[in-house]
Amino acid sequence: MNLIKFEDFSFKYDQAQDFVLKDIKLNIESGKFILLCGITGSGKTSLVRAMNGLIPQFYHGEIKGDVFVKGKNTKNVPTSTLSRDVGLVFQNPENQLIAMNVEREIAFGPENIGIPWDEMDSRIKECIKITDIEHLRKKAPFEISGGEQQRVAIASILALQPEIIIFDEPTSLLDPKSAIQILNLLKKILLEKKISTIIVIEHRLDIVLPLADEVILIDKGRIIEHGEAHYVINGEKFLNSGVNIPKCVSVFQKLMNQNIFTGKLPISIEETKNLINSIK
Ligand SMILES: Nc1ncnc2c1ncn2[C@@H]1O[C@H](COP(=O)(O)OP(=O)(O)O)[C@@H](O)[C@H]1O
Ligand SMILES: [Mg+2]
Repeated sequence: MNLIKFEDFSFKYDQAQDFVLKDIKLNIESGKFILLCGITGSGKTSLVRAMNGLIPQFYHGEIKGDVFVKGKNTKNVPTSTLSRDVGLVFQNPENQLIAMNVEREIAFGPENIGIPWDEMDSRIKECIKITDIEHLRKKAPFEISGGEQQRVAIASILALQPEIIIFDEPTSLLDPKSAIQILNLLKKILLEKKISTIIVIEHRLDIVLPLADEVILIDKGRIIEHGEAHYVINGEKFLNSGVNIPKCVSVFQKLMNQNIFTGKLPISIEETKNLINSIK
């Protein structure tokens, strides 16, 4: 089923000279872990702003075409309603955390949409369990680490039970180990079907590619490739896009250029190991 559908959508910010999103045709389906990549300034953040109505309702500008979230046109349906379908977590969770303590933070969203107390209580418990933050329950957001803040931000979005959750560079402020933990947590949430679809904007392709079902590649406001992860990373457009190509991909790409290797480029350490074994 299509959760989000872009129909020939273009957008230009009021202050800007050029369109930042150009002729976007895109279907986001359920059950996918989707990586959105592209170099800085290519339009990733703008694209996800258009997925929950922030564009055009909060960021004004010139629009062509339409975006539908579960059939609702993002031009007409308020962002407060769309946020029940699409949760967006930003790069810096600190700015998103506003309550006195972690438990209140998670309760904030459901309270605002009038969820009854007993249901809210069970939602809070579940979200705390999934994100493994029981020990942080009574702590203030500023008392906890970046990785913990990111977990709290995820728990508070999960409490709203959206079908789609979008992360705009969730690990950019984290060390590599915490980054891997957060991305694996997201995958677990998807596999346990707590969320239908997860879209992640992430620069560290080496840690996110192994988790991705689909990759969307954006360049100068256009989607230049979209499909199954192996399909996209094996394509010229991806390899020449200027994004951070993971080491395992670039090594095999070089071997391929020298006709030492033919086949599909690997997207994970596991696949790389298997390939190396098969070459021996
Ligand atoms: N609020 C805004 N007003 C005007 N221009 C913006 C705004 N936000 C982003 N842009 C411009 O849109 C382009 C795409 O930016 P963005 O969507 O943030 O890309 P990315 O997330 O891939 O780095 C950039 O040229 C950026 O300067
Ligand atoms: Mg961005």
